[in-house]
Amino acid sequence: MTGRFITLEGGEGAGKSSNLAWLAERLREAGVPVTVTREPGGTDLAERIRAVLLDPGAETMADSTELLLVFAARAQHLEALIRPALARGDWVLCDRFMDATWAYQGAGRGFDPAAIAALESLVLRGLTPDRTLLFDVPVAQGMARAGKRSSPDRIERETVAFFERVRQCYLERAAAEPERFRLIDAGAELDAVRAELDTHLQEMLRWR
Ligand SMILES: Nc1ncnc2c1ncn2[C@@H]1O[C@H](COP(=O)(O)OP(=O)(O)OP(=O)(O)O)[C@@H](O)[C@H]1O
Ligand SMILES: [Mg+2]
Repeated sequence: MTGRFITLEGGEGAGKSSNLAWLAERLREAGVPVTVTREPGGTDLAERIRAVLLDPGAETMADSTELLLVFAARAQHLEALIRPALARGDWVLCDRFMDATWAYQGAGRGFDPAAIAALESLVLRGLTPDRTLLFDVPVAQGMARAGKRSSPDRIERETVAFFERVRQCYLERAAAEPERFRLIDAGAELDAVRAELDTHLQEMLRWR
């Protein structure tokens, strides 16, 4: 039996992490075996790469270093956690995945799409999420929510223009792959977001 791979995407403060926990609970209540994870990270080694990626540090990180670290973490995450979980039949809920690389390193940093596509092919070997929930929120609103937390990490220090490019890229990807994506108006009140999420949950439960 093989499980299902569900990714949650969207900008800072969109509500991915809080809604992922809610979604995992609903799935478990329905008797679905769930593995919850996140990117960058998800395994001990990949979380250590995450710490390097997000540390503002003293030295400026080259864009190519950032891209390779993102994929290094993903390679480890896929081999050590995601593929085994799917193989044993779990539904894997992942907070950010490959679309985030297209949005942040591609649209945000302006990295060559051919380089990203080559690494995607090398590391994913054809694995695509069964469903991607895109939490879309206006940049300023998301930043205001996220800003209430601790000090900003290296990525959170980026400009509004950077996050606008990220948002547009996510929306374009969702429009290009309507079968995989479900778009959620994450700027709404939490109750409305949960109601929308619930319709997508019911749709996914019909996969069984
Ligand atoms: N619909 C909502 N209305 C109001 N506040 C919300 C809503 N959704 C989430 N929040 C709050 O906004 C903050 C950011 O949410 P959360 O951490 O889930 O976002 P995120 O998408 O995981 O952000 P990041 O990309 O920075 O990890 C949290 O304090 C959360 O409680
Ligand atoms: Mg989060």
